[in-house]
Amino acid sequence: MINPIFVAIDTPHMKTALDLVNSLAGHVGGVKLGLEFFCANGLPGISDLSQLGIPIFLDLKLHDIPNTVAGALKSTVAIRPAIINVHSSGGEAMMRQAVSTVEECAANENFEKPLLIAVTLLTSLDDEDLPTLGFSGTPQKQVIRLATLSQRCGLDGVVCSPLEIKPIREVCGNEFKLVVPGIRPEGSDMGDQKRTLTPKQALEMGADYIVIGRPITSSDDPVAAVEAINATISS
Ligand code: C5P
Repeated sequence: MINPIFVAIDTPHMKTALDLVNSLAGHVGGVKLGLEFFCANGLPGISDLSQLGIPIFLDLKLHDIPNTVAGALKSTVAIRPAIINVHSSGGEAMMRQAVSTVEECAANENFEKPLLIAVTLLTSLDDEDLPTLGFSGTPQKQVIRLATLSQRCGLDGVVCSPLEIKPIREVCGNEFKLVVPGIRPEGSDMGDQKRTLTPKQALEMGADYIVIGRPITSSDDPVAAVEAINATISS
């Protein structure tokens, strides 16, 4: 099995990121770089890390009009990420154009198309937030609505919380990729995550990839931390 762990490197510091990626390459499936790293280091910083040969999930959560998202995707696929994402609430036209842009870039420049996945509803939003945003129904209903819309537009999958794995699998099937943060190895500090699963539980439930940050990156020995997780996954 390909290693399903993407380590979240949430730092603005290039040296910290480089040290982590250098030590963790070969022990994980890839790294997730989000806005914190990107806003400090830009695409050149992402490109420097990708030179180390590790698959990158570029978590920029693009959300804008179709033409602007397509333009941003053209620039970002140039550094050959393994996974990139957009917000599904950007709508059908934006997502369809995102899919065709990524496919065209990959075909024209002859590289393997990255997985294009969607963010549905941010997990920081709960029942009380939805009416204030003009949404009716429960967060889960909204997540399912946006996941099915993303699938219909041709996206490869979604980012989802551990609690959403089962309901999304039921409606979107087994081929739809589920990338799942909110993972905590048994006995580790929850931090600000509330609804968590262990790595093994999330994979057994149907996650394709799991995103784990602080339980690895804040450890005194990140390689030992990840190897302990790998042992639980393969047991
Ligand atoms: O350190 P931790 O394991 O909590 O990191 C999880 C990573 O996944 C962070 O980069 C966080 O921003 C991201 N994430 C999340 N929950 C979501 C979406 C993304 O924790 N719903």
